[in-house]
Amino acid sequence: MATVDVKRTADPASEQAFSGPIGAEYEMLKLICPAAADMSRQVGAFLAGWQCPGSGAGRRLKVLEIGCGTGITTAGLLQARADIEIMAVDIAAPMLAQAKANLAAWNDTGRLHFVESDALSFVKGLASNSVDVVASGYAFHNFLDDYRCQIVREIHRVLRPGGVLINGDRYALDDTVEQTRVIQEELRQYFRVFAELNRPDLLEDWTLHLFSDEAPEHVMRLEPALTLYRDVGFDPVRVHERYRNNAVVSAEKPQA
Ligand SMILES: C[S@@+](CC[C@H](N)C(=O)[O-])C[C@H]1O[C@@H](n2cnc3c(N)ncnc32)[C@H](O)[C@@H]1O
Repeated sequence: MATVDVKRTADPASEQAFSGPIGAEYEMLKLICPAAADMSRQVGAFLAGWQCPGSGAGRRLKVLEIGCGTGITTAGLLQARADIEIMAVDIAAPMLAQAKANLAAWNDTGRLHFVESDALSFVKGLASNSVDVVASGYAFHNFLDDYRCQIVREIHRVLRPGGVLINGDRYALDDTVEQTRVIQEELRQYFRVFAELNRPDLLEDWTLHLFSDEAPEHVMRLEPALTLYRDVGFDPVRVHERYRNNAVVSAEKPQA
């Protein structure tokens, strides 16, 4: 397992969000939002069944994971197939430290490389047509709208023709009334869980985080996200799973 430290640039807000108490006890997410772990699992399941066009026998597929966090999605990807090698990028050092501990079993396989970096800066430094798969779980929704547009464009550039972006994430409902109802339900769950655990501190942090996710400059609604993928040149773009405000979306870079 190699670790690369690339220059750290943009998006201090994202870094802060997971460098503090939320990141330190990130496993709480499983209790307050069980759908998140399911999205991660399904990203791995997608990769297990994915046929890489034109891949010759013996070549390891290059997978770039955006926002690996504590390694929940990474583990699913590594288990999904033996012919992949992952560059797992995250901006928050405390999250990467947990990923390294959680994925220690993959240490000496040469299949896992951690990169501490802002994702957009890192992707910008990669050669065009050099990556087979870009995978992510529950990270894109943390990005500001403009940042998300830039990184999706860059992801399309670095993917090989025939390569795929697979993202399991919070994709807000396009029906804003229904979305509000779903968020209220999520908040109720936060209150239930953190009251039982007597953790008003985490209730406060996660509630503020939820408000940040829902802010107009932040929120990632499904239809605009699909339009963005198509606009930068992905085709086809498919929704595999839709559960409340969660979805697994794949976007293929057409073969030349
Ligand atoms: C909600 S967590 C998801 C973690 C993991 N993928 C999972 O499935 O549980 C989002 C992760 O994205 C990372 N992140 C947010 N903004 C980032 C950025 N601009 N560059 C790299 N990583 C970022 C955070 O540090 C955090 O670890």
